[in-house]
Amino acid sequence: MQNLEQIKEQVLSCAACKLAATRTNPVFGAGDVNARILFVGEGPGEQEDLSGEPFVGRAGKLLDKMLDAVGLSRNENVFITNIVKCRPPGNRDPQPDEVSACIGYLKRQIELINPEYIVCLGRVAAHCLIDPDFRVTKQHGQFIEKDGILYMGTFHPAALLRNPAQKVDALDDLCKLRDRLQDNNTTL
Ligand code: URA
Ligand code: SF4
Repeated sequence: MQNLEQIKEQVLSCAACKLAATRTNPVFGAGDVNARILFVGEGPGEQEDLSGEPFVGRAGKLLDKMLDAVGLSRNENVFITNIVKCRPPGNRDPQPDEVSACIGYLKRQIELINPEYIVCLGRVAAHCLIDPDFRVTKQHGQFIEKDGILYMGTFHPAALLRNPAQKVDALDDLCKLRDRLQDNNTTL
C-alpha cells in the first residue's frame, strides 16, 4: 500500500480533472497522521490555493478557535483535508465529475490515517461521505456509523461566518465529539 507521502506527491502533480488548469497549488491536507479524528471540508478557497495548506483563511481561523475550545488542534490530534484538493474557481461547489476524479485520494487518506471519527464540515462533505440527502441544519451533531467509522456532519465554518447564530450549535457538536473521545478512553 502507498504511504501518505506518496499520495501527497501524486496530488501535487495531479491533472485528473479540470480544476488542475485553474489552481495555483493543490491542497493535500495537514495535521497529525495518527489522529483519531479527520475533518473534511469541501475544497480549497483562495488562501488555501495560494498557500497549499487547508483552512488557513478566515473560515480556517474560526475552525482553529473552535477546535482549541474543545482541546483539539491540527498540530496535535486532528488531520484536516477536503473533498477536492484543488480550488473550484470563485469557490463554487465542486462538480460531480471533479468529486469522482478526486475522491480516491480522500479514500486512501482515510485508509492510512484510519480515524475513529470523520467530521464533515458542511453540506458538500456530508452529502459525499454520509448521505446525499443529509441536511446539516437538521442532522448536525448526529453520529452515524459506516464501515467501522463514526461520521458526524456539522456546519461549515464559512457558513458560521455568515450566520454566527449557528456557532452555539456547532460548538455543541464539537463538545459531543470531545465527550465521546474522553469516554472511549485515554488522551487524544
Ligand atoms: N473551505 C473549505 O472547505 N476548505 C478549506 O480548506 C478552506 C475553506
Ligand atoms: Fe487531481 Fe483532485 Fe486536483 Fe482534480 S481536484 S486535479 S482530481 S487533485
